[in-house]
Amino acid sequence: MEAAKRNVGSMKSNSDKVYFGPYKAPNRAYMKAMGITDKDLAKPVVGVAAAWSEAGPCNLHAMELGRRAKEGITYAEGTPRMFATPLVIDGVAMGSEGMKYSLPSREVIANTVELTVKAHGYDAFVGITGCDKTTPGMLMAAARTNLTSVILYGGSAMNGYLGGRTITMEDVFEAVGAFAGKRMTEEELKELEDNAIPTIGTCAGLFTANTMGTIAETLGMALPGSSAPPAVEGVKSDYAYASGVAVMKLLENGIKPRDIMTADSFENAIAILMAMGGSTNAVLHIMAIAAEAGIKITLDDFERIGAKVPEIANMRPGGPHTMEDLSRIGGVPAVVKKLLKAGIIDGSQLTVTGKTLAENMDSIKFVESKNDILADIAKPYHNRGGIRVLKGNLAVDGAVVKISAAGILKHEGPAKVFDSEESAFEGVMDGRVVKGDIVVIRYEGPKGGPGMREMLSVTAAIMGRELGSSVALVTDGRFSGATRGLMIGHVAPEAFEGGNIALVENGDIISIDCEKGTLELKLGDEELANRKSRWVKPPAKHKSGFLAQYAKLVGSAAAGAVMQLE
Ligand code: FES
Repeated sequence: MEAAKRNVGSMKSNSDKVYFGPYKAPNRAYMKAMGITDKDLAKPVVGVAAAWSEAGPCNLHAMELGRRAKEGITYAEGTPRMFATPLVIDGVAMGSEGMKYSLPSREVIANTVELTVKAHGYDAFVGITGCDKTTPGMLMAAARTNLTSVILYGGSAMNGYLGGRTITMEDVFEAVGAFAGKRMTEEELKELEDNAIPTIGTCAGLFTANTMGTIAETLGMALPGSSAPPAVEGVKSDYAYASGVAVMKLLENGIKPRDIMTADSFENAIAILMAMGGSTNAVLHIMAIAAEAGIKITLDDFERIGAKVPEIANMRPGGPHTMEDLSRIGGVPAVVKKLLKAGIIDGSQLTVTGKTLAENMDSIKFVESKNDILADIAKPYHNRGGIRVLKGNLAVDGAVVKISAAGILKHEGPAKVFDSEESAFEGVMDGRVVKGDIVVIRYEGPKGGPGMREMLSVTAAIMGRELGSSVALVTDGRFSGATRGLMIGHVAPEAFEGGNIALVENGDIISIDCEKGTLELKLGDEELANRKSRWVKPPAKHKSGFLAQYAKLVGSAAAGAVMQLE
């Protein structure tokens, strides 16, 4: 790319306000202290947002990928500046108070990118992501700032192996329940712990991080083929370099995130979520990203699209395969091509290559292999999408369930009610939860938790104690993408806001029907009204600090649990 031939001025509409002209001499002086020259400052200044932390393996390589993205930007005549965003490693925080910070971290990441690129006059940015909230956080920042950007998902860990079988973190969480049920020794548990994650990268199954990497690519905001390769593969570094080059090309052509993230591209994102049976967390994230782009996506859109998209992926937690396995058969493009061919997604949508989704797919060639990872559209694993929205008097505004990993689709039974994740975990582990029960975990919603914790420890304990086919769970919290079983989350309105889930008592009968899409508490309206009149809102759990701020501003899970001023 020759700078002289480009209209560089139009590419520097932000950075010129900070670094151009005699009045900006002090601003430039700071740059010169870092070795940035006048020549560098005459080029577009491009941020590289690396969600980096040593808190876990998911994002450990983000700086390294960021450095390669910088090289791509420099090659394409831009001046890169890297910065880090905070993040929460969900698997480490899981089952503790720390998990309350996980969903809120999505907003912190979006805010960190916004404040850094806006404060320093950056013209564009590349976002390097990994663990669950980092991809949606960066996409929210892209949509909010509408600053030219490319997302690179850092990739998953390689498969773990033990005794010749593939294992992931899901096995370790469930093994805790098996250990408690005396079906596994401590030595066996340790062996799983020692072998589940052999490399850096995100959790290996089609859990939330891999789901969001898939969605970033299908939305058009990540380079085609960039998401599925595992974190440690050399090609990831090539994609980082190419992302740096791509962001400069987009800048030159004046292409911005809202040109790419249109209402139709969000429909594509929902379609691939349904086709792959991805994480229920993606429901929250897609609504939140769309809201930043000024596009309203509702739970009804997920139901509408889910009803016509068959589920074709056979990946963990519903099936046996991982992101590494998907990568071996062509990665995300292997899925996109099938959906395009069947007319399920719209190939005319623009992407960060500057070409359409369909044009990108035309340029990606791989040998189609026979495998049991992706089914043909005509012979899917399930006839409808992997996620359903349930409604009824227990979830008037909606709840979500991953039917592809549910095992059973209907259940009616007595409620066993817990007011926190910890008390529910104890209830499962000490044998109070028995066959036939429906476990209700409440006051774990976006405001009530606050932070809408994931209930993986509880759901894994249920599976580990071999109750998965006879016990269901209903919560205003949410689930890890690794959760399986009949687990219904995101119940809205949440208990803290006086939703009917707050009125459930031990022994009440709850009816779940994932085929009809209903979630009912078998009580008459009069009894519900009586209980409602006696209900007293509990005091907020946090009086100061970030969680108190978050609880004050966060909205309903039925609208993506976004922080809002109104
Ligand atoms: Fe980071 Fe699972 S803990 S992706």
